[in-house]
Amino acid sequence: MQIDEFHNLIWDFYRSNKRSLPWRETKDSYKILVSEVMLQQTQVDRVIPKYLSWIETFSDTTKLASASLKEVLNEWKGLGYNRRGLYLKQAAEKIVSEYDGAFPQDERSLRSLPGVGPYTAGAIQAFAWNKPVIFIETNIRTVFIHHFFSKKEKVHDKDILEYIEKTLPKKRAREWYWALMDYGAHLKQTLPNPSRRSKHHVIQEGFKGSNREVRSRILSFVLENGPVKREGILQQIQSRKWSVEDNIDTLTNEGLIKKSEGLYSVES
Ligand code: ADE
Repeated sequence: MQIDEFHNLIWDFYRSNKRSLPWRETKDSYKILVSEVMLQQTQVDRVIPKYLSWIETFSDTTKLASASLKEVLNEWKGLGYNRRGLYLKQAAEKIVSEYDGAFPQDERSLRSLPGVGPYTAGAIQAFAWNKPVIFIETNIRTVFIHHFFSKKEKVHDKDILEYIEKTLPKKRAREWYWALMDYGAHLKQTLPNPSRRSKHHVIQEGFKGSNREVRSRILSFVLENGPVKREGILQQIQSRKWSVEDNIDTLTNEGLIKKSEGLYSVES
């Protein structure tokens, strides 16, 4: 497909199908960060109410940095992968303490924030500042595989990134990426997901019976009942003993719960 033709296709689709999403109403880099971290592993529909409520509670980095982990994780509830909530708080703390509360503007400092990888750093620069940076995520990947690699298997992101760079309208990065994401989400609903032909395609691990589920139950229990004894957790969580033991230790190592004088709690 020619580049002109591709531009027309994407812009035409976007003109009549753009999604109105709360994080598209702002250019505040902190709010964009929050939305992108939430969207990393959670569906748009589930993120919308959580995003709105989070922004009401923690309207800026100062508010988030000074909140307790307990308040933060209570607000994160329902989104899953709780470490992301901790990362957001740690990122806010770093911005306040190391950058004097001014959101870092360059790629290197962005990438130094907890929970911010290449995708999130790119998304912040494009959506907050309209910078023509190159990045990829699942919906964008879907679009390019469908139109530029229609016969290929195990497509490598580095090959897709070349096309993203070649086609990016340099002055309209913000809207272009929104358009790609909306069109990619649409393709996924209408076709057998073209991303399955990506070398980087990962299928999210099932929740039921997983370690992730055990950790989620332990964390909820400690949030509501802490400080509690290890015995108390083991009695409460109906799962194999060794699995509960391992997952208590994982949560402790990740910094989501802490042990003090033999009792587990979430920092308040
Ligand atoms: N708009 C901005 N970022 C987005 C994302 N990650 N997913 C869907 N829509 C978005």
